[in-house]
Amino acid sequence: MTRYAHITGWGTALPEHVLTNKDLEQMVDTSDEWIVSRTGIRERRIAAPDQTTASLGADAAMAALEQAGVKPGEVDLIIVATSSPEHIFPATACIVQDMIGASKAGAFDLSAACTGFIFALNMAAQAIRTGSIDTAVVIGAETISRIVNWQDRNTCILFGDGAGAFVLQGSDVPGGVLEAVMHADGSGADVLSLPAGGSKIPTSADTVAHGLHYVYMDGRPVFRFATRVMAEATREVVKKAGFDLDAIDLVIPHQANYRILEVAARGLKMPMDKFMINLEKYGNTSTASIPIAAAEAVETGRLKPGDKVVLVGFGGGLTYGALLAEWTGPFPDRAEIRSEHYRLWARLRSSGKRLRRKLLTATSRGKELGG
Ligand code: ACO
Repeated sequence: MTRYAHITGWGTALPEHVLTNKDLEQMVDTSDEWIVSRTGIRERRIAAPDQTTASLGADAAMAALEQAGVKPGEVDLIIVATSSPEHIFPATACIVQDMIGASKAGAFDLSAACTGFIFALNMAAQAIRTGSIDTAVVIGAETISRIVNWQDRNTCILFGDGAGAFVLQGSDVPGGVLEAVMHADGSGADVLSLPAGGSKIPTSADTVAHGLHYVYMDGRPVFRFATRVMAEATREVVKKAGFDLDAIDLVIPHQANYRILEVAARGLKMPMDKFMINLEKYGNTSTASIPIAAAEAVETGRLKPGDKVVLVGFGGGLTYGALLAEWTGPFPDRAEIRSEHYRLWARLRSSGKRLRRKLLTATSRGKELGG
């Protein structure tokens, strides 16, 4: 029997602290007028010191599970798409898995910069459609503020922190994720990158002195690339799914720059009101921007069950892609989920496992020493 992967839950985690363009005027040589006219961004959220990519991801995941009425223990797979992972390894997804107590879930990170959420959603949907798994949580989570140079006006005005998550569930009922396209152009890898801290340029006093641990971006080629591929990928996925552009109820694009979205809308001959845009409030939250915008679209009634929605994005890599879904919402038999109970249980479970691991290590060391 054919399986379908439905989006049944959505959730966000947005830090409380708001950094406005006026605040940025005090930090770098810029102005509210310049930022709004070149990007459309007015303010962005900045993570508190105790918030991390994983903690924001876990908060968004629990909110999405609550919406879907799915218990963390029922989740088979967690994918975290992120451009600001907690570590090179372990995967941020494993930390999220522990934080929410998704005891049977496999977990891994997906690195495709801002396009990551679309790629991750497609991977999870494919795993459900083949029957390999039944339930997945896909997260886009970022604390980009930690890897941005707050003295570089070219980049620091663009980004913000936050997380968004979807729950995907398998069903025999047609709908859900219908089609996706994924592309990359590695010849543009150098125009948008975090140069140091990986194996090519390991962190050293020298890399820190030269600011190579911060996001580097050559804005103009990225802008040109984005304006071309946003319309291209949207057309491609709609055609692949066998629809016309007229059949699309809403486009939820990666929220990078209002001007990029205007060019994309013109290229598609679509009115701007078919685009869900909230970048003025959150800036570019990289992998998190699409699920954050999607959650707002649902909450404001712009995205309803049965609607055909295109998610489309671009980012470092360079990468780009689009995904077409028929929006579902929670299954009718959803259970009541009390997030705080599951979070408490997850903390106890994790502490117990850590203690057991310590005791086992201590006793096995004792045995090795002949104790
Ligand atoms: N405030 C004031 N002036 C500025 C600022 C600023 N914050 N930043 C740059 N400028 C200046 C530049 O120095 C330049 O001055 P100059 O002409 O004297 O050299 C002038 O403004 C114009 O600079 P441009 O780069 O031509 O400005 P542009 O109109 O291209 O806008 C921007 C820059 C907004 C970065 C644009 O290129 C852009 O949006 N690019 C795409 C960026 C993007 O989407 N990145 C995210 C990718 S997603 C991911 O994977 C992380």
